[in-house]
Amino acid sequence: MKRVDDFRLRFGERELVPIMIGGMGVDISSAELALEAARLGGIGHISDAMLPTVTDRRYDTDFVKAKLTQYKYNLENADKSAVKFDLGQVAEATRLHVSKTMEAKRGSGMVFVNVMEKLTMNAPKETLKVRLEEALSAGIDGITLAAGLHLGSFAMIENHPRFRDAKLGIIVSSLRALQLFLRKNARTNRLPDYVVVEGPLAGGHLGFGMDWAQYDLRTITLEIMAYLKAEKLDINVIPAGGIFTGSDATGFLEMGAAAVQVATRFTVAEECGLPADVQQEYFRASEADIEVNGVSPTGYPMRMLKNSPAIGSGIRPGCESYGYILDASGKCSYIDAYNREVAAHPGEKKIQVFDKTCLCTHMRNFKLWTCGHYTYRLKDTTRKAADGSYQILSAEHVFKDYQFSTDNKIALPV
Ligand SMILES: Cc1cc2nc3c(=O)[nH]c(=O)nc-3n(C[C@H](O)[C@H](O)[C@H](O)COP(=O)(O)O)c2cc1C
Repeated sequence: MKRVDDFRLRFGERELVPIMIGGMGVDISSAELALEAARLGGIGHISDAMLPTVTDRRYDTDFVKAKLTQYKYNLENADKSAVKFDLGQVAEATRLHVSKTMEAKRGSGMVFVNVMEKLTMNAPKETLKVRLEEALSAGIDGITLAAGLHLGSFAMIENHPRFRDAKLGIIVSSLRALQLFLRKNARTNRLPDYVVVEGPLAGGHLGFGMDWAQYDLRTITLEIMAYLKAEKLDINVIPAGGIFTGSDATGFLEMGAAAVQVATRFTVAEECGLPADVQQEYFRASEADIEVNGVSPTGYPMRMLKNSPAIGSGIRPGCESYGYILDASGKCSYIDAYNREVAAHPGEKKIQVFDKTCLCTHMRNFKLWTCGHYTYRLKDTTRKAADGSYQILSAEHVFKDYQFSTDNKIALPV
């Protein structure tokens, strides 16, 4: 019987264990987690979501304070179009996080960065270009383009000296999205090295509508593999979303996938950025506690625990400190929802907003508990103590369980 370790992910001459830990913003897929994947011969992701606040927390920078000081005058203003990022600071934060992570890398694996197009940052093109270029300059092994079609992203970095040497990939949820990406980026004469096919059971934002349950990862993966074969395009196909056991992963590798991308199993690892009390919420969750809803102001459906404190919270929009979801004209649907509720409840100190959430503030504070569909199975991957708490796992334990397990078995920690 085959297991994941019987397969290798190939990038030219380079061979890796075909396990990639997916990007999880905001600093949930921490540098520590990504570095473990690389040490064990696979691929880990850091995320560049909200890096200025992440570096403040990790490396004592003052980016958020500087932005808030500059825009404090605008706090009560519903119009946030003036609240811009300082591109120099975005570059500095990216450089710092990527270079510190890469300096710490050991082992034969790789560290990639997950870069989401939907973080439009009130200047979508300018900020994305800086984020991509600085990650390359700071020595990242690869970039996974996420949360968006990225129709212009290759062109933005085609003049960077590492454009052809770093590994570049895109996350799609349909063949159509991949075809569009390939067509629009063809001019740069460079194929992506890999495509992550993310199905409807993944965590974070979904590339599907609220009819997500009608789609199936295996079907989409087969369709994309058939297309690439017919077009003679040599691109590694990496399925993601609901791959919970080593046997699930082996099934996809036997089908011809180059590797798998996984995340949920690692949300309860010590090295993961989620606080320990939130990890216990993930362990405790039952299937009925998980939902896909429309509260994210990005417009994409998002999967999360129903008891996330972010849901219903009516906090003042935090754009003067953060502002990562502001679109090209400085708008975010949470601001509109918040102002509507404020107008409907004059004089009330505390209001509630249920249809949208302040994604930046709540992701930054780990109050929006986004998760994969199979989060309710995490309790079966560990031991429960007498006090009812669940044992946190090491990333190495989870990684090796994927790598070596057979028969759908999950190894419990010692
Ligand atoms: C907590 C959490 C946060 C996530 N955040 C992101 C993200 O910021 N960007 C992204 O492209 N994918 C994100 N994802 C998706 C994962 O990278 C991955 O593709 C997917 O969850 C894999 O499915 P699995 O969790 O069932 O293994 C997130 C997933 C989880 C569980």
